[in-house]
Amino acid sequence: MMLVMQLLRGAVKHAGSSPQCSVERLISAVRGISSSSQRLSDLGGTHPPSSTDSDRPKVLITGGLGQLGVGLAKLLRRRFGKNNVILSDIRKPPNHVYHNGPFIFSDILDYKNLREIVVNNNISWLVHYSAVLSAVGENNVALAKEVNITGLHNILDIATEHGLRVFVPSTIGAFGPSSPRDPTPELCVQRPRTIYGVSKVHAELMGEYYNHRYGLDFRCLRYPGIISADSQPGGGTTDYAVQIFHAAVKTGCFECNLRSDTQLPMMYIDDCLRATLEFMEAPADTLVSRTYNINSMSFTPQELIQEIQKVLPDLKVTYNVDPVRQAIADGWPMALEDSAARRDWGWKHECDLSELVHSMLTRITLGNQLAQAY
Ligand SMILES: NC(=O)c1ccc[n+]([C@@H]2O[C@H](COP(=O)([O-])OP(=O)(O)OC[C@H]3O[C@@H](n4cnc5c(N)ncnc54)[C@H](O)[C@@H]3O)[C@@H](O)[C@H]2O)c1
Repeated sequence: MMLVMQLLRGAVKHAGSSPQCSVERLISAVRGISSSSQRLSDLGGTHPPSSTDSDRPKVLITGGLGQLGVGLAKLLRRRFGKNNVILSDIRKPPNHVYHNGPFIFSDILDYKNLREIVVNNNISWLVHYSAVLSAVGENNVALAKEVNITGLHNILDIATEHGLRVFVPSTIGAFGPSSPRDPTPELCVQRPRTIYGVSKVHAELMGEYYNHRYGLDFRCLRYPGIISADSQPGGGTTDYAVQIFHAAVKTGCFECNLRSDTQLPMMYIDDCLRATLEFMEAPADTLVSRTYNINSMSFTPQELIQEIQKVLPDLKVTYNVDPVRQAIADGWPMALEDSAARRDWGWKHECDLSELVHSMLTRITLGNQLAQAY
Protein backbone atom coordinates (compact mmCIF):
# COMPACT_ATOMS: atom_id res chain seq x y z
CA MET A 1 0.00 0.00 0.00
CA MET A 2 3.00 2.30 0.61
CA LEU A 3 3.92 2.27 -3.05
CA VAL A 4 0.31 2.91 -4.07
CA MET A 5 0.08 5.95 -1.81
CA GLN A 6 3.43 7.25 -3.06
CA LEU A 7 2.28 6.82 -6.65
CA LEU A 8 -1.04 8.45 -5.98
CA ARG A 9 0.63 11.47 -4.43
CA GLY A 10 2.68 11.78 -7.62
CA ALA A 11 -0.45 11.22 -9.65
CA VAL A 12 -2.29 14.07 -7.93
CA LYS A 13 0.62 16.40 -8.75
CA HIS A 14 0.41 15.38 -12.42
CA ALA A 15 -3.35 15.71 -12.51
CA GLY A 16 -2.88 19.42 -11.92
CA SER A 17 -0.99 19.83 -15.18
CA SER A 18 -3.07 17.36 -17.20
CA PRO A 19 -6.59 17.08 -15.83
CA GLN A 20 -7.70 14.55 -18.44
CA CYS A 21 -5.08 11.91 -17.65
CA SER A 22 -6.38 8.69 -16.16
CA VAL A 23 -4.47 8.99 -12.89
CA GLU A 24 -7.33 11.04 -11.44
CA ARG A 25 -9.71 8.19 -12.02
CA LEU A 26 -7.25 5.90 -10.25
CA ILE A 27 -7.62 7.95 -7.10
CA SER A 28 -11.33 7.24 -6.95
CA ALA A 29 -10.67 3.63 -7.90
CA VAL A 30 -8.20 3.13 -5.05
CA ARG A 31 -10.68 4.58 -2.55
CA GLY A 32 -12.97 1.71 -3.38
CA ILE A 33 -10.20 -0.86 -3.68
CA SER A 34 -11.78 -3.33 -1.31
CA SER A 35 -15.32 -3.07 -2.63
CA SER A 36 -14.95 -4.53 -6.08
CA SER A 37 -12.26 -5.69 -8.48
CA GLN A 38 -14.59 -4.44 -11.22
CA ARG A 39 -13.41 -0.89 -10.46
CA LEU A 40 -10.11 -1.47 -12.20
CA SER A 41 -11.75 -2.48 -15.44
CA ASP A 42 -13.78 0.72 -15.38
CA LEU A 43 -10.74 2.93 -15.89
CA GLY A 44 -10.49 4.62 -19.25
CA GLY A 45 -11.97 7.39 -21.42
CA THR A 46 -15.00 9.41 -20.44
CA HIS A 47 -16.95 10.33 -23.54
CA PRO A 48 -20.63 10.97 -22.98
CA PRO A 49 -22.97 8.49 -24.64
CA SER A 50 -24.43 9.32 -28.05
CA SER A 51 -27.90 10.83 -28.05
CA THR A 52 -30.13 8.45 -30.00
CA ASP A 53 -29.92 4.78 -30.76
CA SER A 54 -30.00 5.33 -34.52
CA ASP A 55 -26.85 7.52 -34.26
CA ARG A 56 -24.96 4.65 -32.74
CA PRO A 57 -22.78 2.48 -34.93
CA LYS A 58 -22.81 -1.28 -34.51
CA VAL A 59 -19.13 -2.17 -34.17
CA LEU A 60 -17.23 -5.40 -34.80
CA ILE A 61 -13.64 -5.59 -33.49
CA THR A 62 -11.51 -8.36 -35.02
CA GLY A 63 -8.48 -9.72 -33.14
CA GLY A 64 -10.12 -8.25 -30.07
CA LEU A 65 -8.31 -10.34 -27.45
CA GLY A 66 -4.91 -8.80 -28.16
CA GLN A 67 -3.25 -5.91 -26.34
CA LEU A 68 -5.65 -3.26 -27.64
CA GLY A 69 -9.06 -4.80 -28.39
CA VAL A 70 -10.50 -5.26 -24.90
CA GLY A 71 -9.67 -1.66 -23.90
CA LEU A 72 -11.16 -0.32 -27.12
CA ALA A 73 -14.35 -2.35 -26.59
CA LYS A 74 -14.68 -0.90 -23.09
CA LEU A 75 -14.34 2.66 -24.42
CA LEU A 76 -16.74 2.12 -27.35
CA ARG A 77 -19.32 0.33 -25.17
CA ARG A 78 -19.36 3.26 -22.79
CA ARG A 79 -20.07 5.53 -25.72
CA PHE A 80 -22.38 3.44 -27.92
CA GLY A 81 -23.88 0.91 -25.47
CA LYS A 82 -22.69 -2.52 -24.42
CA ASN A 83 -24.57 -4.53 -27.02
CA ASN A 84 -23.49 -2.32 -29.91
CA VAL A 85 -19.85 -3.43 -29.70
CA ILE A 86 -18.93 -7.03 -30.52
CA LEU A 87 -15.48 -8.36 -29.72
CA SER A 88 -14.21 -11.24 -31.84
CA ASP A 89 -11.11 -13.42 -32.02
CA ILE A 90 -10.03 -17.00 -32.72
CA ARG A 91 -9.07 -17.57 -29.08
CA LYS A 92 -11.28 -18.33 -26.10
CA PRO A 93 -11.88 -15.17 -24.05
CA PRO A 94 -11.07 -14.95 -20.36
CA ASN A 95 -14.16 -14.95 -18.11
CA HIS A 96 -14.18 -11.21 -17.39
CA VAL A 97 -14.20 -10.46 -21.13
CA TYR A 98 -16.84 -13.10 -21.90
CA HIS A 99 -19.17 -11.68 -19.23
CA ASN A 100 -18.64 -8.00 -20.06
CA GLY A 101 -20.35 -7.83 -23.44
CA PRO A 102 -20.93 -9.65 -26.74
CA PHE A 103 -18.09 -11.92 -27.85
CA ILE A 104 -18.06 -14.04 -30.99
CA PHE A 105 -15.63 -16.41 -32.75
CA SER A 106 -14.36 -14.93 -35.98
CA ASP A 107 -11.41 -16.05 -38.10
CA ILE A 108 -10.64 -13.26 -40.56
CA LEU A 109 -9.40 -15.88 -43.03
CA ASP A 110 -12.94 -17.32 -43.22
CA TYR A 111 -14.66 -14.93 -45.62
CA LYS A 112 -18.09 -16.57 -45.42
CA ASN A 113 -18.12 -16.57 -41.61
CA LEU A 114 -17.04 -12.93 -41.50
CA ARG A 115 -19.74 -11.90 -43.94
CA GLU A 116 -22.37 -13.81 -41.93
CA ILE A 117 -21.36 -11.99 -38.74
CA VAL A 118 -21.52 -8.59 -40.47
CA VAL A 119 -24.96 -9.30 -41.95
CA ASN A 120 -26.55 -11.02 -38.94
CA ASN A 121 -25.44 -8.30 -36.55
CA ASN A 122 -26.10 -5.32 -38.80
CA ILE A 123 -22.49 -4.15 -38.39
CA SER A 124 -21.71 -0.59 -39.54
CA TRP A 125 -18.14 -0.07 -38.23
CA LEU A 126 -15.37 -2.64 -38.47
CA VAL A 127 -12.22 -2.19 -36.37
CA HIS A 128 -9.65 -4.57 -37.79
CA TYR A 129 -7.17 -5.42 -35.02
CA SER A 130 -6.20 -8.99 -36.04
CA ALA A 131 -2.55 -9.12 -37.02
CA VAL A 132 0.73 -10.94 -36.57
CA LEU A 133 3.12 -8.36 -35.09
CA SER A 134 6.72 -7.54 -36.04
CA ALA A 135 8.89 -9.93 -34.00
CA VAL A 136 6.47 -12.87 -34.31
CA GLY A 137 6.08 -12.17 -38.05
CA GLU A 138 9.84 -12.45 -38.65
CA ASN A 139 9.70 -15.91 -37.06
CA ASN A 140 6.70 -17.01 -39.14
CA VAL A 141 6.54 -15.15 -42.44
CA ALA A 142 3.94 -17.49 -43.97
CA LEU A 143 1.52 -16.88 -41.10
CA ALA A 144 2.11 -13.11 -41.20
CA LYS A 145 1.43 -13.08 -44.97
CA GLU A 146 -1.78 -15.03 -44.50
CA VAL A 147 -3.21 -13.08 -41.57
CA ASN A 148 -1.92 -9.59 -42.44
CA ILE A 149 -2.43 -9.67 -46.22
CA THR A 150 -5.08 -12.28 -47.11
CA GLY A 151 -7.03 -11.37 -43.97
CA LEU A 152 -6.93 -7.69 -44.89
CA HIS A 153 -8.28 -8.46 -48.38
CA ASN A 154 -11.27 -10.21 -46.79
CA ILE A 155 -11.89 -7.24 -44.51
CA LEU A 156 -11.73 -4.66 -47.32
CA ASP A 157 -14.00 -6.71 -49.61
CA ILE A 158 -16.62 -7.28 -46.93
CA ALA A 159 -16.48 -3.65 -45.79
CA THR A 160 -16.96 -2.49 -49.38
CA GLU A 161 -19.75 -4.99 -50.07
CA HIS A 162 -21.71 -3.86 -46.99
CA GLY A 163 -20.88 -0.14 -46.92
CA LEU A 164 -18.97 -0.25 -43.60
CA ARG A 165 -16.65 2.31 -42.09
CA VAL A 166 -13.42 0.39 -41.54
CA PHE A 167 -10.47 1.15 -39.29
CA VAL A 168 -7.13 -0.59 -39.90
CA PRO A 169 -4.20 0.42 -37.68
CA SER A 170 -0.82 0.87 -39.27
CA THR A 171 2.43 1.31 -37.38
CA ILE A 172 5.84 2.93 -37.15
CA GLY A 173 6.93 -0.41 -38.66
CA ALA A 174 5.49 0.72 -42.00
CA PHE A 175 8.67 2.82 -42.38
CA GLY A 176 12.18 1.53 -42.95
CA PRO A 177 15.85 2.50 -42.84
CA SER A 178 15.54 4.74 -45.93
CA SER A 179 12.69 6.81 -44.39
CA PRO A 180 13.60 10.06 -42.60
CA ARG A 181 13.66 9.04 -38.93
CA ASP A 182 13.45 12.10 -36.69
CA PRO A 183 10.72 13.02 -37.21
CA THR A 184 9.17 10.77 -39.86
CA PRO A 185 6.71 12.73 -42.03
CA GLU A 186 3.30 11.45 -43.21
CA LEU A 187 4.45 11.11 -46.78
CA CYS A 188 7.94 9.80 -47.43
CA VAL A 189 9.81 6.75 -48.71
CA GLN A 190 8.37 3.58 -47.14
CA ARG A 191 10.63 0.58 -47.65
CA PRO A 192 10.24 -1.54 -44.48
CA ARG A 193 12.37 -4.66 -44.08
CA THR A 194 9.93 -6.80 -42.08
CA ILE A 195 6.94 -8.76 -43.36
CA TYR A 196 4.88 -6.91 -40.74
CA GLY A 197 5.92 -3.54 -42.18
CA VAL A 198 5.43 -4.66 -45.77
CA SER A 199 1.93 -5.93 -44.94
CA LYS A 200 1.06 -2.63 -43.23
CA VAL A 201 2.21 -0.52 -46.21
CA HIS A 202 0.10 -2.87 -48.33
CA ALA A 203 -2.87 -2.25 -46.01
CA GLU A 204 -2.45 1.54 -46.19
CA LEU A 205 -2.26 1.49 -49.99
CA MET A 206 -5.06 -1.01 -50.52
CA GLY A 207 -7.36 0.88 -48.15
CA GLU A 208 -6.64 4.19 -49.84
CA TYR A 209 -7.17 2.58 -53.23
CA TYR A 210 -10.55 1.13 -52.17
CA ASN A 211 -11.50 4.56 -50.85
CA HIS A 212 -10.57 6.18 -54.15
CA ARG A 213 -11.96 3.42 -56.40
CA TYR A 214 -15.09 2.26 -54.53
CA GLY A 215 -15.73 5.03 -51.99
CA LEU A 216 -14.92 2.74 -49.04
CA ASP A 217 -14.80 4.76 -45.79
CA PHE A 218 -11.30 3.50 -44.92
CA ARG A 219 -9.49 5.05 -41.95
CA CYS A 220 -5.97 4.27 -40.80
CA LEU A 221 -3.72 5.58 -38.01
CA ARG A 222 -0.05 4.80 -37.72
CA TYR A 223 0.24 3.88 -34.05
CA PRO A 224 3.56 4.22 -32.16
CA GLY A 225 4.47 1.43 -29.69
CA ILE A 226 1.51 1.19 -27.30
CA ILE A 227 2.01 0.88 -23.55
CA SER A 228 -0.70 -0.70 -21.40
CA ALA A 229 -0.92 -2.10 -17.87
CA ASP A 230 -3.96 -4.40 -18.06
CA SER A 231 -3.10 -6.25 -21.29
CA GLN A 232 0.09 -7.91 -22.49
CA PRO A 233 1.81 -7.00 -25.79
CA GLY A 234 1.57 -9.51 -28.64
CA GLY A 235 5.16 -9.92 -29.89
CA GLY A 236 6.21 -6.49 -31.17
CA THR A 237 9.57 -4.74 -31.05
CA THR A 238 8.39 -2.19 -28.45
CA ASP A 239 7.22 -4.88 -25.97
CA TYR A 240 10.10 -4.15 -23.58
CA ALA A 241 8.46 -0.85 -22.63
CA VAL A 242 5.47 -2.74 -21.19
CA GLN A 243 7.36 -5.68 -19.70
CA ILE A 244 9.74 -3.45 -17.74
CA PHE A 245 6.86 -2.07 -15.62
CA HIS A 246 5.63 -5.52 -14.61
CA ALA A 247 9.20 -6.61 -13.79
CA ALA A 248 9.86 -3.39 -11.86
CA VAL A 249 6.83 -3.98 -9.61
CA LYS A 250 7.15 -7.78 -9.26
CA THR A 251 10.89 -8.51 -9.00
CA GLY A 252 12.76 -5.22 -9.24
CA CYS A 253 14.97 -6.69 -12.02
CA PHE A 254 14.62 -6.45 -15.78
CA GLU A 255 16.59 -7.75 -18.76
CA CYS A 256 16.15 -5.37 -21.71
CA ASN A 257 16.30 -6.80 -25.26
CA LEU A 258 17.01 -3.45 -26.98
CA ARG A 259 20.15 -1.28 -26.70
CA SER A 260 19.94 1.46 -24.06
CA ASP A 261 20.04 4.29 -26.66
CA THR A 262 17.27 2.96 -28.97
CA GLN A 263 14.81 5.83 -29.32
CA LEU A 264 11.30 4.91 -30.50
CA PRO A 265 7.92 6.68 -30.55
CA MET A 266 5.56 5.39 -27.84
CA MET A 267 2.04 6.15 -26.62
CA TYR A 268 -0.04 5.38 -23.54
CA ILE A 269 -3.00 3.13 -24.36
CA ASP A 270 -5.63 5.65 -23.21
CA ASP A 271 -4.35 8.18 -25.76
CA CYS A 272 -4.24 5.52 -28.49
CA LEU A 273 -7.81 4.31 -27.91
CA ARG A 274 -9.20 7.84 -27.60
CA ALA A 275 -7.43 8.79 -30.86
CA THR A 276 -9.07 5.81 -32.54
CA LEU A 277 -12.56 6.75 -31.38
CA GLU A 278 -12.13 10.43 -32.23
CA PHE A 279 -10.75 9.60 -35.66
CA MET A 280 -13.61 7.16 -36.36
CA GLU A 281 -16.14 9.82 -35.38
CA ALA A 282 -14.52 12.60 -37.45
CA PRO A 283 -16.77 13.74 -40.31
CA ALA A 284 -15.48 12.28 -43.59
CA ASP A 285 -15.19 15.72 -45.20
CA THR A 286 -12.61 16.84 -42.59
CA LEU A 287 -10.23 14.03 -43.55
CA VAL A 288 -7.76 15.31 -46.11
CA SER A 289 -6.00 11.97 -45.95
CA ARG A 290 -7.07 8.42 -45.06
CA THR A 291 -3.81 7.50 -43.29
CA TYR A 292 -2.40 9.68 -40.47
CA ASN A 293 0.62 9.56 -38.15
CA ILE A 294 -0.15 10.09 -34.45
CA ASN A 295 2.57 10.89 -31.94
CA SER A 296 2.86 11.61 -28.24
CA MET A 297 6.36 10.89 -26.87
CA SER A 298 9.65 9.22 -27.75
CA PHE A 299 12.17 7.70 -25.36
CA THR A 300 15.08 5.27 -25.11
CA PRO A 301 15.25 2.36 -22.62
CA GLN A 302 17.76 4.44 -20.65
CA GLU A 303 15.35 7.39 -20.37
CA LEU A 304 12.46 5.13 -19.40
CA ILE A 305 14.57 3.41 -16.72
CA GLN A 306 15.61 6.77 -15.25
CA GLU A 307 11.96 7.85 -15.02
CA ILE A 308 10.90 4.58 -13.35
CA GLN A 309 13.84 4.81 -10.94
CA LYS A 310 12.50 8.15 -9.70
CA VAL A 311 9.70 6.07 -8.13
CA LEU A 312 11.47 2.71 -7.72
CA PRO A 313 15.16 3.58 -7.19
CA ASP A 314 16.14 -0.06 -6.61
CA LEU A 315 15.16 -1.20 -10.12
CA LYS A 316 18.11 -3.10 -11.67
CA VAL A 317 18.37 -3.40 -15.46
CA THR A 318 20.73 -5.55 -17.52
CA TYR A 319 20.92 -5.73 -21.30
CA ASN A 320 20.74 -8.83 -23.49
CA VAL A 321 20.13 -7.41 -26.95
CA ASP A 322 17.98 -9.49 -29.30
CA PRO A 323 19.58 -8.99 -32.75
CA VAL A 324 16.25 -9.48 -34.60
CA ARG A 325 14.38 -6.87 -32.56
CA GLN A 326 17.36 -4.48 -32.50
CA ALA A 327 17.70 -4.61 -36.31
CA ILE A 328 13.97 -3.88 -36.64
CA ALA A 329 14.12 -0.97 -34.16
CA ASP A 330 17.21 0.53 -35.85
CA GLY A 331 15.20 0.96 -39.06
CA TRP A 332 12.12 2.49 -37.42
CA PRO A 333 11.22 6.16 -36.81
CA MET A 334 12.56 7.90 -33.69
CA ALA A 335 9.53 10.24 -33.69
CA LEU A 336 6.46 10.71 -35.90
CA GLU A 337 5.42 14.03 -37.41
CA ASP A 338 1.65 14.30 -36.77
CA SER A 339 0.63 17.90 -37.53
CA ALA A 340 -1.91 16.74 -40.16
CA ALA A 341 -3.90 14.74 -37.57
CA ARG A 342 -3.77 17.71 -35.18
CA ARG A 343 -4.98 20.06 -37.92
CA ASP A 344 -7.65 17.92 -39.66
CA TRP A 345 -9.47 16.15 -36.82
CA GLY A 346 -8.09 17.76 -33.67
CA TRP A 347 -5.74 15.02 -32.41
CA LYS A 348 -4.06 15.96 -29.12
CA HIS A 349 -2.17 13.62 -26.81
CA GLU A 350 -2.63 13.90 -23.06
CA CYS A 351 -0.01 11.66 -21.42
CA ASP A 352 3.73 12.42 -21.35
CA LEU A 353 6.53 10.16 -20.11
CA SER A 354 6.29 11.05 -16.44
CA GLU A 355 2.48 10.64 -16.40
CA LEU A 356 2.82 7.36 -18.27
CA VAL A 357 5.23 6.00 -15.65
CA HIS A 358 2.99 7.00 -12.74
CA SER A 359 -0.12 5.65 -14.37
CA MET A 360 1.51 2.31 -15.33
CA LEU A 361 3.04 1.72 -11.91
CA THR A 362 -0.20 2.64 -10.16
CA ARG A 363 -2.35 0.39 -12.30
CA ILE A 364 0.02 -2.58 -12.08
CA THR A 365 0.44 -2.22 -8.32
CA LEU A 366 -3.32 -1.92 -7.78
CA GLY A 367 -3.95 -4.84 -10.13
CA ASN A 368 -1.52 -7.06 -8.20
CA GLN A 369 -3.04 -6.10 -4.87
CA LEU A 370 -6.53 -6.84 -6.11
CA ALA A 371 -5.39 -10.19 -7.53
CA GLN A 372 -4.02 -11.11 -4.10
CA ALA A 373 -7.13 -9.89 -2.31
CA TYR A 374 -9.60 -11.98 -4.37
N1 LIG B 1 0.27 -2.94 -29.77
C1 LIG B 1 1.03 -2.05 -30.40
O1 LIG B 1 1.98 -1.50 -29.86
C2 LIG B 1 0.70 -1.69 -31.83
C3 LIG B 1 1.45 -0.68 -32.46
C4 LIG B 1 1.16 -0.37 -33.78
C5 LIG B 1 0.11 -1.01 -34.43
N2 LIG B 1 -0.60 -1.97 -33.79
C6 LIG B 1 -1.66 -2.65 -34.52
O2 LIG B 1 -2.85 -2.67 -33.73
C7 LIG B 1 -3.56 -3.90 -33.95
C8 LIG B 1 -3.82 -4.57 -32.62
O3 LIG B 1 -2.58 -4.80 -32.00
P1 LIG B 1 -2.44 -5.71 -30.70
O4 LIG B 1 -1.20 -5.24 -30.02
O5 LIG B 1 -3.71 -5.75 -29.96
O6 LIG B 1 -2.12 -7.13 -31.37
P2 LIG B 1 -2.00 -8.55 -30.63
O7 LIG B 1 -0.94 -9.33 -31.31
O8 LIG B 1 -1.91 -8.36 -29.16
O9 LIG B 1 -3.42 -9.20 -30.97
C9 LIG B 1 -3.78 -9.62 -32.26
C10 LIG B 1 -4.96 -10.55 -32.14
O10 LIG B 1 -5.25 -11.07 -33.46
C11 LIG B 1 -5.74 -12.37 -33.28
N3 LIG B 1 -5.66 -13.14 -34.52
C12 LIG B 1 -4.59 -13.76 -35.07
N4 LIG B 1 -4.94 -14.43 -36.17
C13 LIG B 1 -6.27 -14.21 -36.35
C14 LIG B 1 -7.22 -14.65 -37.32
N5 LIG B 1 -6.88 -15.46 -38.33
N6 LIG B 1 -8.51 -14.23 -37.19
C15 LIG B 1 -8.87 -13.44 -36.17
N7 LIG B 1 -8.03 -13.01 -35.21
C16 LIG B 1 -6.73 -13.40 -35.30
C17 LIG B 1 -4.89 -12.97 -32.18
O11 LIG B 1 -5.53 -14.08 -31.56
C18 LIG B 1 -4.71 -11.78 -31.23
O12 LIG B 1 -5.63 -11.79 -30.18
C19 LIG B 1 -2.68 -4.72 -34.90
O13 LIG B 1 -3.17 -4.57 -36.22
C20 LIG B 1 -1.32 -4.10 -34.77
O14 LIG B 1 -0.59 -4.24 -35.97
C21 LIG B 1 -0.33 -2.33 -32.50
